Amino acid sequence: MSTGVRVALVGATGAVGRTMLQLLRERGFPASEIVPFASERSAGLNLDGLTVRGLIDDAEVDGFELALFSAGATVSRKWAPRFVAGGATVIDNSSAFRREPEVPLVVSEVNPHALTGHKGLIANPNCSTMQMMVALAPIHREVGIERLVVATYQSVSGTGHQAVEELESQAHASLHGVEMPPPALYPEPIAFNVIGAAGSFADGDDHTDEERKMMFETRKILDDQAIGIAVTCVRVPVRVGHSEAVNVQTREPISPERARELLSNAPGVVLDELPTPLRSAGRDGVFVGRIRRDESHPRALHMWVVSDNLRKGAATNAVQIAELLQVADRESGRLAERAV
Ligand code: A2P
Repeated sequence: MSTGVRVALVGATGAVGRTMLQLLRERGFPASEIVPFASERSAGLNLDGLTVRGLIDDAEVDGFELALFSAGATVSRKWAPRFVAGGATVIDNSSAFRREPEVPLVVSEVNPHALTGHKGLIANPNCSTMQMMVALAPIHREVGIERLVVATYQSVSGTGHQAVEELESQAHASLHGVEMPPPALYPEPIAFNVIGAAGSFADGDDHTDEERKMMFETRKILDDQAIGIAVTCVRVPVRVGHSEAVNVQTREPISPERARELLSNAPGVVLDELPTPLRSAGRDGVFVGRIRRDESHPRALHMWVVSDNLRKGAATNAVQIAELLQVADRESGRLAERAV
């Protein structure tokens, strides 16, 4: 990737896609052009001064150097390989390729080295996993993680922009004393409620796909298959910002003071007394608070981890990966020049 990168944004009209566009501009990503793609329904729409193209069968997808995808796994499976064949490096926010051994699954602060030798396709982790990795990697490096017990409190924007509308319309109806519209995306009403299973169930599985993602992705990112993970993913009536109660059982003992010290120097982490989704929204940090000893175990700590799921949980990390690739390309270019 050289300077003046031609960028495709697939799923540009969605909750994450819009944030990606905002971030590319905010961080001054050196794009020569940004082309937003969405479904055929959105073709021609003006998106912050750019005209949306429909991703239809004869869409022109050649000649991009970078493609950021956030349009769901089905779209990624069909279109990401075509963008790669057309010359792009794809950073995919869906779950389509995360389990493929040759596809790097990267959190920019945690395992950037995994990008080396990529084959054009890079996977962005699941939002709940992402923020947990930023908070836990420094502890894993120091004392090793033996087991995690996690409960998530996930906001509706993680399901997409229609889920935000579902929450708002139900809340509005309830506050105005009229009957709530029936749930469409969730199995139960989400307004003034808590749903104890975020994600969906595959046939015969008693864990949701969100829970499976956290289990698989944590081990892949930390490159440690021995970590035990017990997780319950929960949906709460919050617009933006996922929260997590994390119990970390370590291999060697670590005090809360040492954990705080490590995290105060960790890239991407912000120590906060009592992080909340409202305070995290619109910011790039992973906010960590309530670090304390688990009195029931000699090698365990509790912590509370909160982050904007659209930003660090998705768009920010994708753009950070793009920036890392740029730096790597510039450096390899310089090395090649020196070798001449
Ligand atoms: P559209 O707005 O045209 O439906 P979210 O995750 O917030 O629900 O957003 C999903 C994103 O994926 C939107 O930009 C949506 O576009 C896009 N999308 C959905 N289906 C397709 C498709 N078949 N081809 C391309 N983009 C799609």
